Amino acid sequence: EIEFSLRPQWLAQYIGQTTAKENLAIFIEAAKLRNEPLDHVLLYGPPGLGKTTMASIIANEMNVQFRTTSGPAIERAGDLAAILSSLEVGDVLFIDEIHRLPRAVEEILYPAMEDFCLDIVIGQGPSARSVRLDLPPFTLIGATTRAGLLTAPLRDRFGVLSRLEYYEIDDLREIVERTAMIFDMPINKEAALEIARRSRGTPRIANRLFKRVRDISQVKGETSISLETTQHALRMLQVDKIGLDHIDHKLLIAIIDAFQGGPVGLDTLSATIGEEPQTIEDVYEPFLLQNGFIQRTPRGRIATEKTYQHFNRPLPNQMD
Ligand code: ADE
Repeated sequence: EIEFSLRPQWLAQYIGQTTAKENLAIFIEAAKLRNEPLDHVLLYGPPGLGKTTMASIIANEMNVQFRTTSGPAIERAGDLAAILSSLEVGDVLFIDEIHRLPRAVEEILYPAMEDFCLDIVIGQGPSARSVRLDLPPFTLIGATTRAGLLTAPLRDRFGVLSRLEYYEIDDLREIVERTAMIFDMPINKEAALEIARRSRGTPRIANRLFKRVRDISQVKGETSISLETTQHALRMLQVDKIGLDHIDHKLLIAIIDAFQGGPVGLDTLSATIGEEPQTIEDVYEPFLLQNGFIQRTPRGRIATEKTYQHFNRPLPNQMD
């Protein structure tokens, strides 16, 4: 229950993501005024920024049930038909990793989203016939790391597209302070700021680092988390001054040392450092790209000057 209450339940408790929050607040208010379900919403952006949390807040604000599933969990059309036919008027159906829905399942969604109906085939062979079942009007909320991973027909059926961005340091500090309050463990403001700075713009990382820092602080017998303990703990956790962790380091150092700064292809890089290509692409690269540590070129990833500087490495000679 503590873990659950870490997630804010209302828009007013949700820290950061001002643009997404302001827009959603208006669409929610308008739908409620009309006494209609909210239009379908696609939430996209890197992992750990609060897509699931935002979806559950939307259901709360609309005062409807929150039903959740995920793309990989729905294997057959019948699985999705069962979920859809159990919905009640206005419910929010949340599909995480919606880009991983099998194609045959995705096709069930089109008429469900557009006309609130379910086309099912009964029987087989010449006696097979199709029946159309009405569904209650509902709101589909899909989440994905990149909107571009969705097929165009699916993407086009969402009325609201909302991109979640990496958080500002000060928002992350506020989130850490809120988490500390919920865990009943006071934290010094500078210490909260230190965790915020090293969380790669991501509340999920901030909260995870907070919990490990708290472990170390409690073992030391502190009644409040100090900056010194925080710095010590983050060093132990191999999180550097700007939040890059062991895997970020492995990835960047591999580009520098094994591939002379690149370019190197995703699959080659994956094999070199032993991380799944998908994980590199979805979890590690977005932050490194956005912060100028790597660039994507047609021939692969390259390390930037900033990366050489971060690791105190001399730039490679420009052809001599
Ligand atoms: N906990 C995790 N993410 C949060 C957010 N965006 N606002 C408030 N608390 C959070």
